[in-house]
Formats: sequence, structure tokens, C-alpha cells
Amino acid sequence: MEKKSSIIAIGLTVHSTPVALREKLAVPEAEWPRAIEELTAFPHIEEAAVLSTCNRLELYVVALSWHRGVREVEEWMARSSGVALDELRPHLFLLRDRDATQHLLRVSGGLDSLVMGEGQILAQVKQVHKAGQNCAGFGRHLNGLFKQAITAGKRVRAETSISSGAVSVSSAAAELAQLKLPTHDFGDAKVCIVGAGKMSRLLVKHLASKGCTGPIVLLNRSMPRAEALADEFPEVEFDIRLMPDLMRSVAECDTIFAASSSEEVLVSAVDLEGMPAASRAVGGVRRFFDISVPRNIGADVSTVEGSAVFNVDDLKEVVAANKDARAAAAAEAEGLLEEERLVFEAWRDSLETVPTIKALRAKAEALRAAELDRALARLGDGLTKKQVKAVEELSRGIVNKLLHGPMTALRCDGADPAAVGQTLQTMEALERMFDLNEAGDLAAPEVRA
Ligand SMILES: NC(=O)c1ccc[n+]([C@@H]2O[C@H](COP(=O)([O-])OP(=O)(O)OC[C@H]3O[C@@H](n4cnc5c(N)ncnc54)[C@H](OP(=O)(O)O)[C@@H]3O)[C@@H](O)[C@H]2O)c1
Repeated sequence: MEKKSSIIAIGLTVHSTPVALREKLAVPEAEWPRAIEELTAFPHIEEAAVLSTCNRLELYVVALSWHRGVREVEEWMARSSGVALDELRPHLFLLRDRDATQHLLRVSGGLDSLVMGEGQILAQVKQVHKAGQNCAGFGRHLNGLFKQAITAGKRVRAETSISSGAVSVSSAAAELAQLKLPTHDFGDAKVCIVGAGKMSRLLVKHLASKGCTGPIVLLNRSMPRAEALADEFPEVEFDIRLMPDLMRSVAECDTIFAASSSEEVLVSAVDLEGMPAASRAVGGVRRFFDISVPRNIGADVSTVEGSAVFNVDDLKEVVAANKDARAAAAAEAEGLLEEERLVFEAWRDSLETVPTIKALRAKAEALRAAELDRALARLGDGLTKKQVKAVEELSRGIVNKLLHGPMTALRCDGADPAAVGQTLQTMEALERMFDLNEAGDLAAPEVRA
């Protein structure tokens, strides 16, 4: 019988890799299908998925060979990012089967996030699953894995207190900005937000909860999303502008948040030349809080006197306390994730019986058809159509009745992990009894619901 393939998770995360390298590997959502297609074009990769967020770039693959699978994924990463493998390797994590599954469940539960318990990662895992529905290479095993991860992520949030307080990268950025203001009061700051998407919405929400009611300069690439965002917060005063006003806005403001999906740096050191200094109320420092990956604010901005840049990695400063407070909830979540991992592994094991079921059916059908042909040849032309039909039905009836027992013993939906081991033993016994070892030649198993 064909050996079970491996689930491999390879990637780099905020815990071990600086944003300067993460941003080079980020794969925008529009490119996930291309990435999946390229990965599954390698000879040992059967299925692939891309999880690319501001905290991580993780590739999940189902590979026919562990070593070759890893080599092929690494080759793809280096080729598509333009970063040499020698530079990438020290940062990469590499997990297999049980550990890869457990990792994705922890990620989905928010346990591996920089801001532990944040909710956006679950939405991102859901998006990977949704986008995968249109990609042939996002196959049955990864579909099952991501479904399980979504269930696990929802359970962690519903059954533990890990996400209480609506934490997010944006809330941490708002907290960091408050911490850096000499008076810790947004009343002294001239705030600008670049981008009007999900992260900017959360930023406004947390800034408002910290008493920042504007006027906030809200800059976006296009008007509709900025207007919709402003409408959601009637208590906050906004000055909505478009990107051509970026430099004028930076010059006028001193507390600038960047949260756009631009692939390009929007503000560099050279742009700040000749700009007026930030006011004394904010310590004379123009601060940029860039939560975009790839970054929107050039690292060189920090070299300009009177300017400071903080990126997603700098949020570590404010999330340490947050992490301690969530440690107990995290321990509770780990137990729950273990349950979900066992359910997934039992389901995956149960898939192994599908080729045996097919092989047994095919073998029985081949024998039945051959014996029927032989019997009909012996009986000659003397039989009526009705009699031929009756003999054929008799042969089918006997085969189906005989197969009923073995087929029932092989059917297992994985819902009961304890029953899976018994089913696999039965499968091996049936393969020996019916000499089904060529079952590997059969077509791929059907896709499960
Ligand atoms: N989602 C998360 O959990 C999360 C967490 C931390 C950090 N981030 C990072 O935060 C950034 C924004 O994420 P998001 O989830 O808020 O994205 P989003 O909801 O898709 O919103 C993207 C925003 O960026 C603008 N934009 C897109 N391309 C642009 C360009 N070339 N130049 C200027 N503006 C452009 C869009 O403008 P239009 O309205 O005109 O389309 C929109 O306002 C990303 O870099 C992301 O990696 C996201």
C-alpha cells in the first residue's frame, strides 16, 4: 500500500525573523494561486498553501518525500523572494506532520501571534482556506487541515479568555504611540493615518478609546473606503485626504501611523528634508508607527534628526505585559488545541482506507465479471435476456453481500480517534487476505465532503 505522505510546514515568523527579511518573502493574496501552482509543479509536492501575514510567511505542503519536499519548498522560497538560501536558512522553522498540524492550530488560535490572542490571524487563516477553494493544488489534506484550524481558532476564542480586550497589532501600535508621547496624551498630538483598511479601522477604534478624537488626517489611495471608515466613527473628527497630499500631511503631523498595503516605501528620509520640526508638545520628535508589511516607512527615516520610526517588530515593547496576562488562558487553549489535533489526525488516518476500499471493490468486480462471462459462455445462446439478467443479478448480489462486512469494517470517518487504530488494523488484514498490494496503482481517492 502507498506510504502516507508528509505534511510539512516551513516558514519564518516574527519570533525569529526581522521585518526587513519578512517583507521580502511576503506573498500578497493575489499571488497565492500562482505560488500554489508553482509549488505543486515540483515533483514531490502534492498540495500547497500559503499563509502570509505581517507576522509570518508560512508554507504548508503535502509532500511525497520529506527530504525532497523540504528541498523543493526551500528552492521555491529562495527563487521567488530573491533571498539566497544561506541567508534564509538560519531563520526558517521546519515542522512535520503532528508538529506542523499543532503549529497551524496554535497560529489560528492566536497563540503564536506577536500580540497573543489577536483576532486577525483567524480571519487570515479563513482567507487561506477560502482562496484555496479555487486552487487545484490546495488539496484534500490541506483543506481538512485548514478547516480544523478554523474550528480550533473559533473554539479558543469562544472557550477561553485569550482574546478578551480586543487585542490587535493596531491596538498595540496605539498603545506604543501613547507610551512614546511625553505627556501620554493624544490631545497634544497631530495624528495622521495612512491607509483606510482593516488595520486603520482598528487603529481609529483604539485611538478613540484612548481619548484621541481628532482631527485625524486620514489619507488613502481612494476616497470611498476612507469615507466609509470616517462614517463608522461619528465621535471622531477626520480630515480625509488622498495620497498626493501625503508629504503635506506628514509635514503637518507628528504622530503618523502607516497601515496600507502599498508594496512600496511611501516616505523616505529624503522626503523629510526641509520639513518643519515637530512641536514641543510631542518632544520635538515626529514619530512614525508603521504596521505595514512590507513596510511603508523607510528605515532611513530614523536617521533624520527629530524623527523616529517604529515598525511591527517594535511592538514587542508593549506586548510583553499583555503576554503575561494571557498566559493562563493560553495554557487552557493548548489543551483544547490538542483535542482538535487528535480529531484531524484521526480523519487523516481514516483517508488511508479509501484506496483499500476501492481496491477490494475493483478486485471483487473483476472476479465477478470474469466468472459471469465464463458461466454465460458455458450456457451458450440458449438463455433468454431475462435469464441472463437474473444470473448477472445473482452474481452481483452474492458479491455485494460478501463485501458488506469488510466494507463496513473499513469505513471510518475519523470522528472517533480510538476507532481509527482498529480500522487501520482491519485494513492491513484485508490487504493481506485479498492480496491488494497493488492498490497504489488505483486512481486518487475521492474528495471527502
Ligand atoms: N490584517 C492584519 O491582521 C494585519 C496585521 C498587522 C499588519 N497588517 C499590515 O497592515 C497593512 C494593511 O493591512 P489591512 O489588513 O488593513 O489591509 P486592507 O484592509 O486590505 O487595506 C489596505 C489599505 O491599503 C491601501 N492601499 C493598497 N495599495 C496601496 C498603494 N499601492 N498605495 C497606497 N495605499 C494602498 C488601500 O486603499 P484603497 O481603499 O484605495 O484600496 C487600503 O486603504 C498591510 O501591510 C498588512 O500587512 C495587517
